[in-house]
Amino acid sequence: MSLKDQALAVRENAYAPYSRFKVGAAIRSENGVVYTGCNVENVAYPEGTCAEAGAVAAMVAAGETRLSEVFVIADAPLPVSPCGGCRQKLSEFGAGDVAVTMANLDGVERTMTLAELMPGAFSETHLENT
Ligand code: THU
Repeated sequence: MSLKDQALAVRENAYAPYSRFKVGAAIRSENGVVYTGCNVENVAYPEGTCAEAGAVAAMVAAGETRLSEVFVIADAPLPVSPCGGCRQKLSEFGAGDVAVTMANLDGVERTMTLAELMPGAFSETHLENT
């Protein structure tokens, strides 16, 4: 199954009763394994988590910490764009040249690199004086 198909499939499991906005994310690790995640909302709204966060958590739980490709999909007029927090989470585990493809259900796709999505990311370099 392609990264897109895996993101589409996991999107079906999204728990989004409050926003009704289901998101699916699929991450390919540097070892070629695919990890998926969907958004999981909560009645205490700020406790909800994004699809990308779920996929990152699945990758790390499996013992991997480097990603090589990301695909995110939702039913939106424009390809779904990862939120700022998820851009930071993805940047923790992926190099600047990692491709992040954003898509909607109409087949519109846009690919950007992590560096383009997260210019000036807070990084380990900022901690070097500690
Ligand atoms: N959401 C994601 O899971 N990923 C994104 O890239 C954008 C937003 C979720 C969070 C919330 O459950 C719903 O979409 C509406 O914001």
